[in-house]
Amino acid sequence: MYTLGINAAYHDCSATLVRDGIVLAAAEEERFTRIKHGKRPLPFTTWQLPFHAIDYCLREVGIALKEVQHIAYSYDPFLLLGERGAAEEIALPMQPSAKASVEWSAPWDPLFLSYIVNAPRQLASGAPHHIRERFGGVRHDGPFQWHYVEHHLAHEASAFLASPFEECAVLTMDGRGELATTSYGVFEDRKYRRLKQVNLPHSLGLLYEEVTDYLGFLRSSDEYKVMALASYGEPAHAARFRDILRYTGDGNYETTRVDWESLFGPRRARGAAMEKRHFDIARSLQLVLEETVLRMVDWLKHETGMKNLAMAGGVALNCVLNARVRDAGVFDKVWVQPAAGDAGTSLGAALWIDAMHRERAAARWHMEHAFLGPEYSNAEIEKFLMYSKMPYRHVDDVSTAAAYLLAENKVIGWFQGRMEFGPRALGGRSILASPIDPEMQAHLNNIKDREDFRPVAPVVMEEHAADWFVDGEVAPFMLFVFDVRPDKAAQIPSVRHVDGTARVQTINRAQHPAYYDLLEAFKKKTGVPVLINTSFNTRGEPVVCTPRDAVESFASTPIDALVIGSFILEKQR
Ligand SMILES: [Fe+2]
Repeated sequence: MYTLGINAAYHDCSATLVRDGIVLAAAEEERFTRIKHGKRPLPFTTWQLPFHAIDYCLREVGIALKEVQHIAYSYDPFLLLGERGAAEEIALPMQPSAKASVEWSAPWDPLFLSYIVNAPRQLASGAPHHIRERFGGVRHDGPFQWHYVEHHLAHEASAFLASPFEECAVLTMDGRGELATTSYGVFEDRKYRRLKQVNLPHSLGLLYEEVTDYLGFLRSSDEYKVMALASYGEPAHAARFRDILRYTGDGNYETTRVDWESLFGPRRARGAAMEKRHFDIARSLQLVLEETVLRMVDWLKHETGMKNLAMAGGVALNCVLNARVRDAGVFDKVWVQPAAGDAGTSLGAALWIDAMHRERAAARWHMEHAFLGPEYSNAEIEKFLMYSKMPYRHVDDVSTAAAYLLAENKVIGWFQGRMEFGPRALGGRSILASPIDPEMQAHLNNIKDREDFRPVAPVVMEEHAADWFVDGEVAPFMLFVFDVRPDKAAQIPSVRHVDGTARVQTINRAQHPAYYDLLEAFKKKTGVPVLINTSFNTRGEPVVCTPRDAVESFASTPIDALVIGSFILEKQR
């Protein structure tokens, strides 16, 4: 049984294809359209399905849309109409107060609703001409069955159904769903029960977005930059933020809308110089967010008694917050969905509908890596390289050859195997460099045209994580920070952030053999089992997807070499 998950509601539109509980393919639409977060600029904000990502998923598995039995759409527009409560629709016991009750009167909603409610028809008849073939013979009233899945249920399912846990507590936090902005639940005995939700207008994600916007960054895109800024500031405005975000007990909180300019002065223009007050605002926001979420986590533990916690939603991409939750020790283990933002709701919705409709129980799928996107064979890569007329050479052992380049302090584009699902590059589409040179962070920020306060992150061989990072443990998705061990800090200066932490990725050989072998070869040459790993893109661009994207990015930036499949391209200095 095939189930196709689709997210198209707000941003980060994506598709995921599941067969009998196993995720076979997943990708974000931005990687194909090259429009970051799938958001088109005004006035072209017309809502659209992620046709390229859907087409990729079908092509990866070699099927046509008519072979898909269920479509799981990670948004339920009928919840907005208030005509039915969440309980009957999503078959979860919910508290009466959780029913649709918030009035929503934004002027664009009727149009938005009509587009979304028309999604089944658009899927059947609206595919772009060049991919029409894979969509042939499909009508909107069949053969697939269409399911609207509540946005936060999709986030929740992306956490507990993909986690390694047989039972766990679940916490999701984002900007907004239909009504919910935060949800709590418990997964046990193969059943899911929602305990509570926080509804609009109270929202941790929207608060963080507003401050991101005020500080001169892109909302629902650059929140991680505010998190990085926070390390440089003092919590001078914490008291004010405690008025804006108040924990009110029993898992509830309230956020107050404020006029940021009257509170903190004029907003920072995009690209303008950073001032101390900007750092302090970021620090204060981050601190109060952490304080609040720790109390929410305490309540969830008290209510569920569970040992483990699974998290998702855009706020769970905050790896400093995640580390605070981990270090609080309230739960023994914390797992965060790597595509915690809205892209991951296509995966969660698909897994949920699959689990609801599958006749035979199968072994649970665990998300052990995020390599769920397109891959290109050596033949396909070489065909493009010949066409591009750029000089290249073939090597038998790319890992060793790349390790030599890195040991010579060269920066390489690393394009190997399947593309990652989710916002982080994890060794499929990465820019890699040596962490030994203290100047490398500034050099990489320059190459990628990034702000100079931005840290770069390390990847470490899994078995060496504890030798280089305090309490270093398995962390394959770069979702937690760890302190760099003081005795090792001088050897990897460029990955150590100003606060002494690093956003670590661990890798084992099963997850990505070529990537692991590269680290091993680099360790043999230098004694250091760590590399800098940053996403293969330039400012404002989505991560590269195809060989063409990789070669274009290589040609237009001062990267020294491109290691793509079994081929190496090098620039002459
Ligand atoms: Fe969301």
